[in-house]
Amino acid sequence: MTQLYKEFRIYRWNRDNPNAKPILQSFFINLSNCGPMVLDGLQKIKSEDDSSLSYRRSCREGICGSCAMNIDGTNTVACLKPIDPDTTKPTIILPLPHMFVIKDLVVDLTNFYQQSMEPWLKTTKAPPDGREYRQSPADRKKLNALYECILYACCSASCPSYWWNPEQFLGPAPLLHAYRWISDSRDEFTKERLKALTEDQTRLYRCIQNCKATCPKSLDPADAINKMKTKHLLSKPIQEF
Ligand code: FES
Repeated sequence: MTQLYKEFRIYRWNRDNPNAKPILQSFFINLSNCGPMVLDGLQKIKSEDDSSLSYRRSCREGICGSCAMNIDGTNTVACLKPIDPDTTKPTIILPLPHMFVIKDLVVDLTNFYQQSMEPWLKTTKAPPDGREYRQSPADRKKLNALYECILYACCSASCPSYWWNPEQFLGPAPLLHAYRWISDSRDEFTKERLKALTEDQTRLYRCIQNCKATCPKSLDPADAINKMKTKHLLSKPIQEF
């Protein structure tokens, strides 16, 4: 049987050895005994060629977001990205762009997670039935294309505004998440949430609409950001314009 070998060119760097420059290291994978996804290829390399290769992964189903990385120029999750069967060109695998690298494909997401805007239901009263907060099917529908965000960070890492102002601008993923709770009919802190987003306007007003194309779940953070800007502008007294 003909064996087809696919080249993976993978970013390698270790902050324990900060004076060494990062390199792209080539590995050749026999596609006839490898699973179909890029994550399968990485697993194969780690178990057969180089156990020191570092990356995150957990669910293998596109649910947890751990395996977010840049594959052939696009931020995505490795477990949902099929290996390109064209063996004449390599697959280039890099860490998420403009994030601090810890080792190989593992990036430091501390700042990213710290920017989450209280992603939980906030209320002042116990639920009427003492058990759960209910909402109508119509209100529940408003959360579609919002609740699915599980913070892969693919969108934030593709946003030049976030690259330039990572401490001020919250970035698309935390903002989409913020809008998910602002849109929830059961949450009683909509005003406060909006205020927290706009006290310093660089938190919200830096979107350049670059995030639309990159979400592995095809969510649209730019649309959520626009809707929050509209809500904010409509909440201002007329004389402020
Ligand atoms: Fe969980 Fe890929 S391993 S999203």
